[in-house]
Amino acid sequence: MELVRGEGSEVKSWKEVQLLYSSALKQIATKIEILNDEFQHVHRYNPIEHVTKRIKTSESIVKKLKSHGYEPTIENMVKYVNDIAGIRVICSFTSDIYRIAQMIGKQSDIKVVAVKDYIQHPKESGYRSYHMIVAIPVYLSDRIIETKVEMQIRTVAMDFWASLEHKIQYKFEGNAPSHINTELMECARMVSELDERMLQLNEEIEAIRAGEMEE
Ligand code: GTP
Ligand code: MG
Repeated sequence: MELVRGEGSEVKSWKEVQLLYSSALKQIATKIEILNDEFQHVHRYNPIEHVTKRIKTSESIVKKLKSHGYEPTIENMVKYVNDIAGIRVICSFTSDIYRIAQMIGKQSDIKVVAVKDYIQHPKESGYRSYHMIVAIPVYLSDRIIETKVEMQIRTVAMDFWASLEHKIQYKFEGNAPSHINTELMECARMVSELDERMLQLNEEIEAIRAGEMEE
């Protein structure tokens, strides 16, 4: 069977787009679930709190294409919109984020298309998260189509901040009063410190546990 690089011309309808991207999402979600199960088995510990996934609505895709100056065609959707399929992986600790990103990136059927580390380099808003665009082959009856999925990997605390910030920006249509933005940035700093302290606590507990196992 032939592997088709997702350049768009091989996908003909919105129905096909939905089928393709929801299949890609299922595959990535299963990989995440397997990693979590294996971790539980080997280390008696779940790095993942929960996972959510979504397919972007056709309205949002068209809006995004138009805002970037592209004709709203199926071909352009597949070619230019990297987040038609999105999965959000919520972890307990910052260290889990990098562990998961690395394990996913190493899998031989996955291609890492792009990485944005907003933990090392937070956005001006204060937003922190680890973003990866990955491509995964989807096996259809007569061909294989490489399909992109946007992964957002973050801690529970980062997710808490991002959902509130999103709600606020939505409410003010991106023009929130400056004192609110300042307050949000202060909260982002606290979230980052909280993540750091929780990580240190967890490492202490792990060290004690490891010591007990040796006894
Ligand atoms: P989009 O065109 O917005 O999809 O983003 P991009 O191509 O600039 O990619 P980026 O990786 O920066 O952002 C992708 C997604 O991350 C967004 O759709 C949001 O879900 C999330 N995100 C990015 N920045 C922020 C932020 O400042 N606040 C919140 N709450 N979410 C953000
Ligand atoms: Mg997006």
